[in-house]
Amino acid sequence: MANSTSFSSYYPMFLIFIVFAIIPATANSIDIADIERGKLLYGNYCKECHDPWRHSRQESEIKTPTDLKRRIIGWQVHKNLSWQAQDVNDVYHYLNQQYYHFNRTQQ
Ligand code: HEC
Repeated sequence: MANSTSFSSYYPMFLIFIVFAIIPATANSIDIADIERGKLLYGNYCKECHDPWRHSRQESEIKTPTDLKRRIIGWQVHKNLSWQAQDVNDVYHYLNQQYYHFNRTQQ
């Protein structure tokens, strides 16, 4: 009896522990899928005009993650793509990983 009482009082803690153990693993795998998806979107709709020179030039106007997001949103409007937030995010993650390397905590 004493045993089952103490288990049930630790049970919520146990659940919380499990949730925190799972979240980072899931977040990681989503990141990789997002980057792959962003790469495809970018390759299909954006790359025709820019090759690596565009994003790595010294005088890039992109100084912060917000600049980059704004620019992606601007270009998808220009191309009439009606991207959702998820699409913009995926391209953001791809370009960031590939060229800009903003810190994760800045995102
Ligand atoms: C019609 C050609 C064209 C297309 C299509 C195009 N871009 Fe661009 N992009 C440019 C040119 C030219 C520049 C440089 C001028 C400028 O900075 O606005 C640029 C600049 C950028 C920059 C800033 C680069 C830097 O570091 O200064 C980003 C980010 C960008 N484009 C993202 C995109 C995305 C995302 C798409 C697809 C939705 C896209 N572009 C489609 C021509 C294009």
